Order: sequence, then C-alpha cells, then structure tokens
Amino acid sequence: MFRLLEGKNVNLRVVEKEDLAFLAEWFNNPEVFGEYNPLVQVSRTEIEKNYGEKKLEEADFFIEGKDGRRIGGIWHFNVIHPAGNQLEIGYFMVSTERGKGYCTEAINIMIDYLFLSKNIERIQAQTDVRNVGSQKVLEKAGFKMEGTIRKPFFLRGQLRDTSLYSILREEWKEPKILTKTAKGEKPF
Ligand SMILES: CC(C)(COP(=O)(O)OP(=O)(O)OC[C@H]1O[C@@H](n2cnc3c(N)ncnc32)[C@H](O)[C@@H]1OP(=O)(O)O)[C@@H](O)C(=O)NCCC(=O)NCCS
Repeated sequence: MFRLLEGKNVNLRVVEKEDLAFLAEWFNNPEVFGEYNPLVQVSRTEIEKNYGEKKLEEADFFIEGKDGRRIGGIWHFNVIHPAGNQLEIGYFMVSTERGKGYCTEAINIMIDYLFLSKNIERIQAQTDVRNVGSQKVLEKAGFKMEGTIRKPFFLRGQLRDTSLYSILREEWKEPKILTKTAKGEKPF
C-alpha cells in the first residue's frame, strides 16, 4: 500500500503514528493554520484517538520537502450528502515555506491521487472570503469559484462567509504530476 506520493518539489507522506506528537504541536500553534482557520486546540489523546479510527484510504498527509522536512499538511474528507460523489480538501503550509509554489503543487498531487483512486466526480474546497492566498492557490491548481456560502463557520468570534471552489473530473482529464510512489508502488 502507498505511503508516499511523489511530486517534483514536494512529496505527500501519510501521517504515521510516530508523527502524532509533532502534529499535536502544530495543531496547538495558532501561527501554523493562519488567520482564516478556526483556532482549534486538540489534545494529544484526541489526536491519537482520531488517528486510530482512520482507515489508510482516509489518511491525512504531510507536505514534505524533498529532504523529508515536514512543511505543511493536506487532507481530504467526505462532504455529507445522501447522493454525494465528491470530496473536500483542506491544506496549510508553515509560515516560513509559503510563497514558494509548494501548496499549489501539493494540491495538484492530491487532485491526481483522488481522481485516480476514488470514484468521485468533483473535489471541492472552501476558503474564508478574505483568504486571497488560498483562493489564488486553488485557481492555479485549476479550481473554479462557484459562489459564496453564507456563514458556515464560526471563526474568531464571528460567523464568516466562505468562497466555494471545485474542480470536476472532466476538467482534470489526466494526471499532471503523480506517476509513481515510493518503491515504485502505484498509489491506487
Ligand atoms: C494559503 C496558503 C496555503 C498558500 O500556500 P503557498 O505555498 O504559500 O502558496 P503558493 O506558493 O503555491 O502560491 C500560489 C499562488 O498564490 C499566491 N499567493 C499565496 N499566498 C498569497 C497571499 N497571502 N496573498 C496573495 N497571493 C498569494 C502566490 O503568489 C502564487 O501566485 P503566483 O504564482 O502568481 O505568484 C498558505 O498561505 C497558508 O498555509 N496559509 C495559512 C493556512 C490557510 O489559510 N490554509 C487554507 C485554508 S482554506
């Protein structure tokens, strides 16, 4: 089974049990998720519990530099709808690694991985309407803006509107980056 999705400048690596202490530090550092994400405080015990309940197909990924440094995170999750055939993604980069094109590449790898491995027709993402950086990254990765979702999130004391973006399988057409994983394993 795959553990590593290889790109040109970054890789996506499945978060393993040994990473959880490191992840707990990130989760509890308000700088990491930036100003447009909720301030979530999660205990190490909770992180370990959530990790234990996940299947590998639902794994969260670190965005890693080619030297193996953990520089960001990216994940996917179900959008609850009885007739749904879509997934949503979320992502962040640590502040020192922003503006280098890494998140755009990580999203492209994730798009390839999801359309190659899952029977879905669309991938969506939501950003706070003020989060210009996140919107630019999505547009660079081929997402299209669909509209504004009114007040879905409570953020820093206020209900906030989000911009909804999506990319359809028919727009993706074929893999842009993802061709192989560690040890030549196929990711799907
Ligand atoms: C938003 C975020 C993920 C962008 O990651 P990144 O690695 O810096 O993005 P990239 O380097 O791939 O940038 C892609 C494009 O977006 C632009 N961009 C990135 N951040 C920007 C910002 N804050 N303002 C304006 N443009 C921005 C880049 O200039 C680049 O465009 P260009 O190629 O035309 O110059 C990162 O800033 C972050 O982690 N922020 C905090 C967490 C967050 O907001 N996550 C998303 C929640 S929806």
